[in-house]
This record gives sequence, C-alpha cells and structure tokens, in this order.
Amino acid sequence: MSTPLKVAVAGLGTVGGGTVRVLREQAGLIEKRCGRAVRLVAASALEPPPGLDLTGVQWFGDAVTMARETDADAVVELIGGAHGIALKVCETALANGRHVVTANKALLAHHGTELARVAEGRGLTLAFEAAVAGGIPVIKALREGLAANRIVEIHGILNGTCNYILTRMRKEGLEFGAVLADAQRLGYAESDPSFDIDGIDAAHKVAILASVAFGCPVRFVPDNVEGIRHVSAVDIKYAELLGYRIKLLGIARRAGDILEQRVHPCLVPEGAPIATVDDVFNAVTIVGDFVDRVVLVGRGAGAGPTASAVVADLIDIAAGRRSPTFGVPVDQLDPIEPVPLTARRGAYYLRLMVRDEVGVLAAVAGALSQSGVSIAKFFQDERAPGEKVPVVMTTHDTLEASMQKALEIIAGLGPVLEPPRLIRIEQF
Ligand SMILES: NC(=O)c1ccc[n+]([C@@H]2O[C@H](COP(=O)([O-])OP(=O)(O)OC[C@H]3O[C@@H](n4cnc5c(N)ncnc54)[C@H](OP(=O)(O)O)[C@@H]3O)[C@@H](O)[C@H]2O)c1
Repeated sequence: MSTPLKVAVAGLGTVGGGTVRVLREQAGLIEKRCGRAVRLVAASALEPPPGLDLTGVQWFGDAVTMARETDADAVVELIGGAHGIALKVCETALANGRHVVTANKALLAHHGTELARVAEGRGLTLAFEAAVAGGIPVIKALREGLAANRIVEIHGILNGTCNYILTRMRKEGLEFGAVLADAQRLGYAESDPSFDIDGIDAAHKVAILASVAFGCPVRFVPDNVEGIRHVSAVDIKYAELLGYRIKLLGIARRAGDILEQRVHPCLVPEGAPIATVDDVFNAVTIVGDFVDRVVLVGRGAGAGPTASAVVADLIDIAAGRRSPTFGVPVDQLDPIEPVPLTARRGAYYLRLMVRDEVGVLAAVAGALSQSGVSIAKFFQDERAPGEKVPVVMTTHDTLEASMQKALEIIAGLGPVLEPPRLIRIEQF
C-alpha cells in the first residue's frame, strides 16, 4: 500500500475552501486515479473559517511557519498577492523540500521563473493549473497535450469580470459604468475592480501562458496592457454593425524572434468561436503548427472550477507525473523579450466624435494617409450639421506606430470633439 500524499493548504477562502471540499468529497476517486490517497494534514488562514470541516487537520496561525514545519509533502498556496506572504510561503515550502501548488497568477507573473528555478533545482514540482482560466486545463493542454507542436498563437478571454461586463453592455445596450456598478452589487466585480477592468489580471495570465507556450521566462509587461474602461455602448453597437463583437483578449504570438504578448479590447469576428463565449466564461484558443486550432471554454473562477484545477495538480504530484514547470527546464528558457504594442501589425477600428462640418472628413482622411494608414470601411450613419456625430472607420493592416501617429494628428483637429477611440481588430 503506497503512503498518502500529505497536503497543507495556506488560505481557506473561496479557492482554499473549495480545495478542502474536493479533497474530502472526491477522496475515493482521487485515490483510484493516482494510486494513493491525497490527504489534507495541515491548514492555515487568518481565522479558521466557520462551516469548513477541518477534523484531524493541524492548524497553523502562521502560513510561513506551516510551510516550514508541517510534515506535508505539498503546500498549496491560496492566499493571493504578488509578493509578501504568498511568496514567502512558496519559498519556504520549496526550501524545505515540499512541492508547491498555487492558483496565484500575480505571484507567478512576478516570481514564476525564480520559483521554478528553485523547484527544478530541488527536484520538486511548482504547479499552477488553477492560475490561468480557473477550471480550464489550459496549462496541461499546452504543456502536455500539445507538446508535439510549435505553438503559433494564443488568444484568451481570461477575465470573467470583463467578459461579464462586455456581454451585458452588448445585450442590454448599457454603458460601462452602469454595468460595473451592477456587477459590484452582484459580487461579480470587486469593490476595487481595477485589477480586472484595467487588464492586469489578464496580463498576469497571458504572461504565464506565453512562457508555457513559447518556452520563455515569465514576463509581466504592464506597457502592453489596456483595459475596458474606455469601451462604450456605441462602440459595441458599431462593432456589431461591422460583424464583430468586442472582447478583452490576452494575446501571445511568436513568429521567429518576434514575441507578442499583450492584453487589450479587440474586435473579434462574430463567427469566431471565441466571440460567442459570454458572461463570466473564459476561453482560450491555441494554434499549433500540426494540430491547427484548439478551443477550450469553461469557468475561469469560482470555488469548484478553481479547486478542480488545484486538485488535479495534487493528483499529478501524487502519481509522480512531472514536466518542466514551463514546458522546458528553466535553464533552457529562451530569454526573448516581448515587443512593444507599437510593433503590432493589424487592422484597427476607429471612432471619432466630430462636429459635422465641411472639410472634417477630408482632414481625418489626410491625417491617416499622411501616416501611411489606409481606410478599409467608413461610415457615418447620423447627420446633424453643426452637431456632434460619430464617424467610424476600419483600416487595412498597418503598423500600430503609424496608427498612433495618425491619432495624434486627428486628436488635434478642431472639429474632433473627443479623444479618438481605437480598438484593435483580431482576425481568426
Ligand atoms: N476566487 C477565484 O475564483 C480564483 C480563481 C483563480 C485563481 N484565484 C487565485 O487564488 C488565490 C486565492 O483566491 P481566493 O479568491 O480564494 O481568495 P480569498 O477568498 O480572499 O481567500 C484568501 C484566504 O487567504 C487567507 N489569508 C489572508 N492573509 C493570510 C495570511 N497572512 N496568512 C494565512 N492566510 C491568509 C484568508 O484568510 P481570512 O479568510 O481569514 O481573511 C483567506 O482564507 C488568489 O491568488 C487568486 O488570484 C482565485
């Protein structure tokens, strides 16, 4: 009879509580699947949560002490935060010869490569399936299932809060602020929602995905991140008229020595599978050179889906299955740097609010052509001479730097009454 894998959990909130429940309720199934029991032996949080059965589990008031002194084989970090206590728990667990499982994308985006180096150096696992897209097994899909492929590109709806807000804006014709307030009231958005709506959370996840997909160090690139605050109901309406939906996407793409890694709202063709993924659901599409396109959809958050991913990692550890943390050993990661957003080449949606007067459209067209940008489609569906009207256009593929140059000129034109709104178009 094999000895059980002993597990200590740090943090017993949404994901920690879910993990404890899955370990208890699925104990028989888990044991059959990995050939040994996976047993919770220790736990730590600020307070023992009421209603969670911790019978027979050693309680630690301090998670770092637990990571050091527990006799567990694996420590699960579910506290959160990019630095501080979460980092100390992981470092202490690894230093004391324990495997680490975490759902903490912020921590991995900032310290993933170093933690992986320590883990691999000691023959330990650092596992993080739950950190990206919650219940969707995208890390395993990339690292194991698609291991025979050179990955070409990844597009992901990686933040359920943003997807929920954009979905309701589209379906109900509401403005961003109204839906955000409602989402906060319903518990779909935090009281401080900036991490989600400004794209930071998705950027942490895309940094992890890029590393696993392309075998490079994990790099959080804040300059390549734009959130959804500026998306308005009118843009969603025009996008629909043009045959697109607006989604916040995390994008990672590698072509030779060029690595793109960015997060921003995108116009996505309405026929693309990812365009139909609504509400709090997440989706990831992966293109590999032999497999072609793979689409994964599921719940990106919540106790059950996230704990499902955490426990899957524990099952791998119990079964002795281990891959290099980011697909290749840390000392073989390719130190390629993501290019800046200005290097993007693609099509753009542009909306201007202009005073409807003679010559304004010619001036806008002049600014675009002077910057080397050519217009693909153009329309202005309301006419009200002397008043503010929206003017919408899409461009042919062009360099983002050219687009930014054109926008600077356009923003300075007298009849252009609001900052131009630019949304990148992603083709699938
Ligand atoms: N929620 C999701 O659906 C989801 C999905 C994917 C990934 N994640 C990630 O999973 C992690 C946990 O998220 P969560 O939503 O479960 O957070 P949460 O509900 O806020 O739970 C955090 C837990 O950590 C405990 N804690 C806080 N400070 C601590 C300390 N100094 N020492 C020990 N325990 C401490 C809290 O204790 P008290 O309750 O006593 O304050 C609580 O039990 C985060 O990294 C998050 O990004 C979450």
